[in-house]
Amino acid sequence: MQKTDYSIIAQTYNNRYKEDYLPNIEKLLEQIIIKNEYKAVLEAGCGTGKWIKSFKELNLKVFGLDYSKEMLKIFKKEDSNAQIINADACGIPLKSDSVDLIFCVNAIHHFPDKKKFIAECKRTLKQNGTIAVFGVDPHIDNEWYVYDYFENVYKNDLMRFVSVDLIKTFLNEAGFNEINLSIAEKVFNERIGDEVFNDPFLIKNHSSQLANLSEQEYENGIEKIKTQINNNPNTVFKTSINFYIVSAKK
Ligand SMILES: C[S@@+](CC[C@H](N)C(=O)[O-])C[C@H]1O[C@@H](n2cnc3c(N)ncnc32)[C@H](O)[C@@H]1O
Repeated sequence: MQKTDYSIIAQTYNNRYKEDYLPNIEKLLEQIIIKNEYKAVLEAGCGTGKWIKSFKELNLKVFGLDYSKEMLKIFKKEDSNAQIINADACGIPLKSDSVDLIFCVNAIHHFPDKKKFIAECKRTLKQNGTIAVFGVDPHIDNEWYVYDYFENVYKNDLMRFVSVDLIKTFLNEAGFNEINLSIAEKVFNERIGDEVFNDPFLIKNHSSQLANLSEQEYENGIEKIKTQINNNPNTVFKTSINFYIVSAKK
């Protein structure tokens, strides 16, 4: 399985956030923190720090952990009080029972050993702490036009992405309680004909799905889309995907 190279993606990664993308995630995280009066929070696979930066007002001790130095460099350029940790999420370099909330957004599919990551969260979290894993599940949702036009992307996603059911199983096996699955966000849009080329996710290095393709595979997909638009300028390019949150308590 190809490993996504975030040193290439880093420079343009934040373009996805120019539009108000996934606003509910921030709200849900804030609710968890405020309701439980949490003080110490870690994001695993924090990338450029989009979510951590939103906690500025909450007066928290915040850790941002990521494997990619290039993603963290972008994060560091912007103002943040977070403590940045360059490490693999499967070996969290923090003391046991030291964090109230560990969350990850669109990242667990990259971690080499998901079960180990969850066991590490169990160790690092304080009693009554929360783990919250946000992400898509292609085993449930596949209405994304990218899957139709770029060969092997859907097949690869089925292999790359752990299902929400399996995350629940790992949480259960690790001894977490109150395991809960719900939809955090519904992403729905339809772009007609040429409008599809305004979609930030159609640019090669804006998503791991397309970044993982060879130049030729990517060009083949773009050609397929252009041919389709030539044949029918009103073709609807649809995205209808759920972002799930799987959460549990220690
Ligand atoms: C799609 S990005 C998500 C970034 C951020 N959570 C967000 O929502 O904007 C996935 C992130 O996971 C990081 N990552 C991949 N493998 C990792 C690992 N084994 N340990 C820690 N971070 C990892 C990547 O470097 C990248 O920054």
